Amino acid sequence: MSYRKDSDSVELGECTRNPGYKDADGDGPAARDNISVSDSEEKRDSIGVKRLSDARDEYTQIKPYAGMPKEVLVLYSSKARYRVPREILFWLTVCCTLALVAVTIAVIALSPKCLSWWQASPVYQIYPRSFKDSDGDGVGDLKGIKEKLDHFEYLNIKSIWISPFYRSPMKDFGYDVEDFRDIDPLFGTMKDFEELLATMHSKGLRLIMDFIPNHTSDRHRWFNLSRTRDPHYEDYYVWTDCKPDGPKPNNWVSIFGNSSWTYDEVRGQCYLHQFLKEQPDLNFRNPDVINEMIDIIHFWLDKGVDGFRMDAVKHMLEAPHMRDEPQVDPNKPPVSLVTTEWDLHSDYTTSQVGLHDILREFRAQMDIYSQEPGRYRFMVIESYDYEEVYKTMMYYGTKLEKEGDFPFNFYLLDLPQNTSGAWAKHLVHLWMGNMPKGKWPNWVVGNHDRTRISSSAGQLYVRAINMLLLTLPGTATTYYGEEIGMENINVTASQIQDPAGKYNTSASRDPQRSPLQWNANMNAGFNDKTNLTWLPLHPDYETVNVEAQMKDDGSVLAQYRFLNTLRQSELPLNRGWFCYVHTDANVFSYIRELDGLKRAFLIVVNFGKESVVTDLSSVRELPDELKVLMSTNKVNDGKVFPKSRIQTEVGEGLVIQYSTNTRFNPNHPEECYISEKACYLETIGILYKCQ
Ligand code: GLC
Ligand code: MG
Repeated sequence: MSYRKDSDSVELGECTRNPGYKDADGDGPAARDNISVSDSEEKRDSIGVKRLSDARDEYTQIKPYAGMPKEVLVLYSSKARYRVPREILFWLTVCCTLALVAVTIAVIALSPKCLSWWQASPVYQIYPRSFKDSDGDGVGDLKGIKEKLDHFEYLNIKSIWISPFYRSPMKDFGYDVEDFRDIDPLFGTMKDFEELLATMHSKGLRLIMDFIPNHTSDRHRWFNLSRTRDPHYEDYYVWTDCKPDGPKPNNWVSIFGNSSWTYDEVRGQCYLHQFLKEQPDLNFRNPDVINEMIDIIHFWLDKGVDGFRMDAVKHMLEAPHMRDEPQVDPNKPPVSLVTTEWDLHSDYTTSQVGLHDILREFRAQMDIYSQEPGRYRFMVIESYDYEEVYKTMMYYGTKLEKEGDFPFNFYLLDLPQNTSGAWAKHLVHLWMGNMPKGKWPNWVVGNHDRTRISSSAGQLYVRAINMLLLTLPGTATTYYGEEIGMENINVTASQIQDPAGKYNTSASRDPQRSPLQWNANMNAGFNDKTNLTWLPLHPDYETVNVEAQMKDDGSVLAQYRFLNTLRQSELPLNRGWFCYVHTDANVFSYIRELDGLKRAFLIVVNFGKESVVTDLSSVRELPDELKVLMSTNKVNDGKVFPKSRIQTEVGEGLVIQYSTNTRFNPNHPEECYISEKACYLETIGILYKCQ
């Protein structure tokens, strides 16, 4: 490159001419240095006889412009007027970056865990036979479910558990599985399933499948191979020696009644079935069986299902010694009268050592699929442990090993036994008082195995029960029809479908499985093609149905929707403190509040038998006047009560929203519970982790 000085301009190689000028700032030492050390070639240039100082003079005459040569650029860029702003900008960028990193780390460290999908929405149970029949055969199906997904959008429900739809001879309506990798034709095809799942996902809905590890159908391929003693399958089930007409191997009984042993002529031995004889128990002491079940878990997770409800898990292992179980009444003659699960202490057939290891292995497999963001796979456990609540709590896993996200909490199913405020609190506390610290509670008020509590408690309490369900902390489970207050049907002896009912009419589960009442048309809209329904409809369907209740903003459905939406939009209700405030023979009352947030909720529910006035004047943290946000008795919406005189009718529940600067929980820690503590910073509207 060469430079040639003109009288008033410099020519820069191929560059344009640049009119010179005098620099008022003068030369900086850095510029001088740069030039003196730079480009020694220049000094040896043919024209390079020029002295260095001359060159410097030349450069100072050049105005800065885009595309200037390096030497000139260096000269100018080292001047204070350019250097200082540049350095300021540099350090500003460094500081901002560091500040951003620090803020990000602080936000991550201080952010409480977000609620996962299974915590944010209630779980809605579909009994597929009874939800919606799309093809007119009188039995509900997968296409029917797909047709009705708007129902969940309306209710603001995102998690759907569908009872089994695997290929099955239907002896226990799908809980007897013939092929865990196929769909029963009664419910549709694998394509129908895939379409249902894809549509659900596109609507932001999650699908939870029933998983039935304890037993298969006696028509399952494994059972046939086992009874013919195929070497690989010989030990897939629980076999023991017995004679065709001789005594049973021991006194164990099936949940559906009578001995849990049946002689198999093909193999010449007895097999164990803790449910129907058509539901032989798998042998989980055989590692191949565990691996088979894991493969099935993978099969459905690969298809994209969002979780499993693990059926009847406490029965998965039995004591290998096979000793008789102790009788509850030792004086009962064993053979003729010890025939039901209530006659025995099921010490050797349920909750055996090793059970939790298997479930934790299932969980670990599901966790592999949970890594993908937003694709957490949920696991809920079914286990009825009655007064042995500690057994149920073990399904939450330990600090070190995860198991179920929660075991179903069935205690509220006993609410109708004694409708009173004190009983409601007792049942709620059975869970809250025994749940391991930091775990997530849940509440079930009905399912396909239990009488609808609207029938056993009475219609009067339906709304109050739904209010309790949706305002307690944790996940609510709603069995189809509870959102409209459906009741049990009457099933005559000749109409009985359920195997449990065939053994004992009063144990029939048909009454709570009648078709969902969609509208007042033919078959309540369940089947609009033919006149078939697999169970009779409840005669009240002309008034109690989804369509009618959607039009009535005081209906059970509208109230369910309101409470569910409120719960999901209000932090105190979905993740705040839960504190007992008052309990008596009629009323059960509690507070939901969040530290840092002025808005809080008081819930007052009358489960008793008389209208009452409740005096909460001793609760200092409550304001003197309380305004009802929502009452199950619509005319009381908006009513204002002095806190000393809160009035409720029988079966009435109130949600009272109030504003406070004084939280209840710090003064009454023993009355309060929170899963994962979070505080609210009202000035900027964020949640943060706090102690
Ligand atoms: C569970 C199911 C029930 C079924 C049983 C056997 O308890 O809820 O309906 O009969 O397991 O699989
Ligand atoms: Mg078993």
